[in-house]
Amino acid sequence: MLENIYHTPVLLKETIEGLKIAPDGIYVDCTFGGGGHSRAILERLNGDGKLVAFDQDESAKRNLPSDSRVIFVPHNFRHLHRFLRLHNISAVDGILADLGVSSHQFDEPERGFSTRFNAELDMRMDKRQARTAFDVLNNYSEQQLHKLFEQYGEVTNAKTLARTIAEVRQSASIRTIDDLKNALQGIVKGNPSKYFAQVFQALRIEVNEELTALRELLQQIPLLLKPGGRVAIITFHSLEDRLVKNFFRRGSFEEAVENPFTTEQAANELKVITKKPITPGDQELKQNPRSRSAKLRVAEKLMMV
Ligand SMILES: C[S@@+](CC[C@H](N)C(=O)[O-])C[C@H]1O[C@@H](n2cnc3c(N)ncnc32)[C@H](O)[C@@H]1O
Repeated sequence: MLENIYHTPVLLKETIEGLKIAPDGIYVDCTFGGGGHSRAILERLNGDGKLVAFDQDESAKRNLPSDSRVIFVPHNFRHLHRFLRLHNISAVDGILADLGVSSHQFDEPERGFSTRFNAELDMRMDKRQARTAFDVLNNYSEQQLHKLFEQYGEVTNAKTLARTIAEVRQSASIRTIDDLKNALQGIVKGNPSKYFAQVFQALRIEVNEELTALRELLQQIPLLLKPGGRVAIITFHSLEDRLVKNFFRRGSFEEAVENPFTTEQAANELKVITKKPITPGDQELKQNPRSRSAKLRVAEKLMMV
């Protein structure tokens, strides 16, 4: 059963193939988690290779192999450049990010990520961080809540949802997952599991500043990859995938502008390797249903710009 497994790596073979690992290269796993992808990278590295593994959740540390080629950085990958510099690394051969939460985080009731349990509204991947889901729900203005549920959760009745939260919290703070679910009982639209999943996704993205961190990571990648080096990113929802797709294609986060008079284009140092995202096959979906929304995109730093 899932309880004993920290995390099953998704699209493992495809990701490792996509990274085209050089045995003596330096690789970064931005999201170490249970270390499944990291272990597969290490198997392909020789004694001169190196792996820098980031995870902002201290519990991931327990999965570290005892291997002198590994440097563990217990911080947010948005500080990639800074920590590489600290370890005297100026450029790397490959970068991997497998975004979102691990099964371990999701299955630990007290972390507050899952709608299946009752717990405090926490949702922090990094427990050193001050802001929790409780703070977002109880301190954000109604307008801020409306915007975040609409943008990050794609919740259809985000305005009603924000108004309901603002009303309910006037009499008592929304402290636990059950408090939140009870407060929303009368306004759930469609399938309740799906609705709560969207609400929780929005809160999680906000608490962990997930999209900001991803944007900051992407912007550092062209700078840090060696020419010919590869980046592989696995996303789990369309907001993340859109950022990765646009950045790989155009070197910016803008959607394509269909304007024949525009000649200006941001310089892009990346070449897209996966024209379409790679998704899990039937066998993986059967073995690991949590892989169902995974999308892998790979790009390569151009040899010369
Ligand atoms: C989906 S899991 C990665 C699983 C991993 N690939 C494996 O094979 O076990 C995502 C992990 O990345 C971490 N994480 C997510 N966002 C992060 C960020 N911005 N900075 C550092 N770690 C992050 C989470 O704490 C979690 O442990």
